[in-house]
Amino acid sequence: MSERTDPTRPVVLIGIMGAGKSAVGRRVAARLGRPFLDTDDLVVERAEMSIPEVFEQDGELMFRALESESLRHAVASEPTPLIAAGGGVVLSDANCEILREYTTVVWLDAPPEVLAERVGDGADRPLLSGGGPGVLDRLRAIDANRRARYEAVADVVVDATAGVDEVAEAVAAALAGGDGGGG
Ligand code: S3P
Repeated sequence: MSERTDPTRPVVLIGIMGAGKSAVGRRVAARLGRPFLDTDDLVVERAEMSIPEVFEQDGELMFRALESESLRHAVASEPTPLIAAGGGVVLSDANCEILREYTTVVWLDAPPEVLAERVGDGADRPLLSGGGPGVLDRLRAIDANRRARYEAVADVVVDATAGVDEVAEAVAAALAGGDGGGG
């Protein structure tokens, strides 16, 4: 069996904020009959604070530490889950190692212009809000900084420009396609 469809291997959706990881993830998890986990939700549970509050009170480094713990916890959880990872999960080499070693990674890729329309003013996302550059410029910079990392860990790349239903369909097809892929 291909690693892509191995039922013991968590599926992790990665990509920049606004790519649709949570919305698409919920749908694909339901189709696959897997529990859905979201590392952002796990961070909020652990911190007992919202993500903007964690950034504000404890800083991004603390957020990243909680995010890494949440990823490890999610990957090890049973039954085998489908996980939506926060967009910055690939910034840590250790996280990338876990993704490569233990999971099937699906990169939801969409251009910054499309992401900008979806995230609006970015109010609930500390890396997009505040003074300075506008949301589109920030997304462009994040895209430029992270593309190589997303690419390096992705087993599958899915164009996430379309609506949630269409993208969920494409993810499910790509995962199922692993069966016929000679894996
Ligand atoms: C972040 C993405 C957010 C959240 C935090 C930081 C990032 O998650 O983890 O605001 O660094 O890209 P989503 O990608 O789910 O919006």
